[in-house]
Amino acid sequence: MEKIVSLCKRRGFIFPSSEIYGGFSGVYDYGHYGTLLFNNVKEAWKKSVAQERLDIFLLDSAIFMHPTTWKASGHVDGFNDPQVDCRKCKSRFRADHMLEAFGVQADKQTLEFINGELDKLRAEKKLVCGNCKSADLTSAKVFSLMVKSNLGSPVDALSEENVVYLRPETCGGIYLEYKNTVDSLHPKLPFGIAQVGKAFRNEIVAKQFVFRTREFEQMEMQYFHHPKDTKAIFDEWHAYRWNFYLDYGIPHEKLNWYKHEKLAHYASDAYDIEYNYAMLGGFKELEGIHARGDWDLSQHSKFSGQDLSYFDEATKERFTPHIVETSAGVARMALAFLDNAYTEEEVGEAREDGTKDIRAVLKLDKRLAPVKVAILPLSKKEELTTPAKELWKTLSKKFFVEYDDTQSIGKRYRRQDEIGTPYCVTVDFDTLTDNAVTVRDRDTMTQERVPLTNLTQYLVEKLEK
Ligand code: GAP
Repeated sequence: MEKIVSLCKRRGFIFPSSEIYGGFSGVYDYGHYGTLLFNNVKEAWKKSVAQERLDIFLLDSAIFMHPTTWKASGHVDGFNDPQVDCRKCKSRFRADHMLEAFGVQADKQTLEFINGELDKLRAEKKLVCGNCKSADLTSAKVFSLMVKSNLGSPVDALSEENVVYLRPETCGGIYLEYKNTVDSLHPKLPFGIAQVGKAFRNEIVAKQFVFRTREFEQMEMQYFHHPKDTKAIFDEWHAYRWNFYLDYGIPHEKLNWYKHEKLAHYASDAYDIEYNYAMLGGFKELEGIHARGDWDLSQHSKFSGQDLSYFDEATKERFTPHIVETSAGVARMALAFLDNAYTEEEVGEAREDGTKDIRAVLKLDKRLAPVKVAILPLSKKEELTTPAKELWKTLSKKFFVEYDDTQSIGKRYRRQDEIGTPYCVTVDFDTLTDNAVTVRDRDTMTQERVPLTNLTQYLVEKLEK
C-alpha cells in the first residue's frame, strides 16, 4: 500500500485533494499520469462495452437530475449505511464492517439485527473503537449516503422542498434516457446504454486510498431485454466482463466471483468480480454484474406517469424491459491495474555484499500505459537534442510521448519504468551517421537498433500487440 501510494504521489498520478488547506477527506485529485491512466482505463472499457458491440449506445447524462428520480429509485429512503461513532475520539465506523470483522454477515441487514449483534459483542467486552480502543461507542444509526445540494433553489437553506441530490450512481441517468434513446435511435431489444461519469456518496468511512472515495467515477452499462432472455444475457455479460480483465493482463488467480446471497427484492441474480488487491490485503469488489428485473423502468414509469414499456413489432407483445447491469468504478479498476503491474526487480551487477540495485517498474498493459514512448538523447549537445525533439514532434502526433534529456540514461530509464512507459528511444551519436535509434523494451530491458524510417511503424505495431 505504502509503496503504491508513495509512487502515485511522487510521480504525479494521484494527490489527496486540497492538500494546501490540510486535505479534504475521501476526495482525490489526479495528476498528469493519473489523468492519462484513468483516461486509458475508461477508453478500454468504452472500446469493449460500446465500440466493439453493435447493441450498445453511449450516453453522457447530467449529474443533477430531477429529485423525484431518487425517490423512485428508493435512494432517498433506503440508500444508507449503519454508522457507529466513538464518543471519545469521534472516529466513525460502518457498523456492518465492524461486525464482519467478527465473522457476522451484516451486509444489508436491518438496524435491529445490527444493534442486536453489536450488543452481544458489547456484553462480551469485545466491542472497542478501532482507533483509540475506547469501549464508549454509540449504537448504530442510519446514515444517508446521498449528497445534497440546493442547485437552482431561490432559498439557500437545504430544506426538504428545495433539496436536489448529486447522483449516487450514474445508471439513474440511463433509466431516464431510455425513452429518448428508443425514440431517437430506434434500437431493437436487446440493447444497452453505457456511460462513464462522476458519482457522489457521503461514505461514512472513506479510506483505503482511492478504493472508497466520496467523489468517484463509474462505468455503467444497463442492458434492456425481454425477461425470458435474462439468464442467457446475464451469463453472457458474466463471461464478457471477466474476459475483459484477462485481456488487460490480470491473471485468473487474482480474480474471484462473489455471489450475493442476500438479493435486493427485485433482483434475480447478483455477482461481483473481486480482485485480490495485494495493497489492501485481499479480495475486494471491483465490479458488479446484477440482474435487476423490471424494477428501474417500472418505478420511473410509476413516479413520472410516462409509459416506459416496449412494443415488440415481431411478436406484437408489450412489456417493461428487464435489465442486466454491469457497474465498475474507474479508480477501483485503475488501482487493480496498478496493483497488478507494480513490480520490483533486481538489476545490474551484484555489489561486493551481493546486493543489487532494485528497479520499480509498472508492467501495465501497453494500452493502459500513460505514456507510450520516451525520447532520450544521450547528450545535451544540440546535434542530438535537435533530431530528438524532431522525433518527439513526429511521434507525439500518434500518442503521448515524453522528451527527457536530464541526468544519466540509467536514471531516465528508471523514471520511465516507474510510470510504465513501454518503450524508451535513445538518440546517440551513431544516429547522426546510421539514421537509426535504440529502442529499449520496459519489461525485458532488451534493446534493438531500429532505422528512423521504420520507427513509427515499428512502435505502432509493438504498442498494438
Ligand atoms: N448501479 C449500481 C451501483 O452503483 P455499487 O456496487 O454501489 O452499484 C458499483 O457500485 C461500483 O462502483 C463498485 O463495484 C465500485 O467499483 C464502484 N464504487 C462504488 N462506491 C464507490 C466509492 N465510494 N468509491 C469508489 N468506487 C466506488
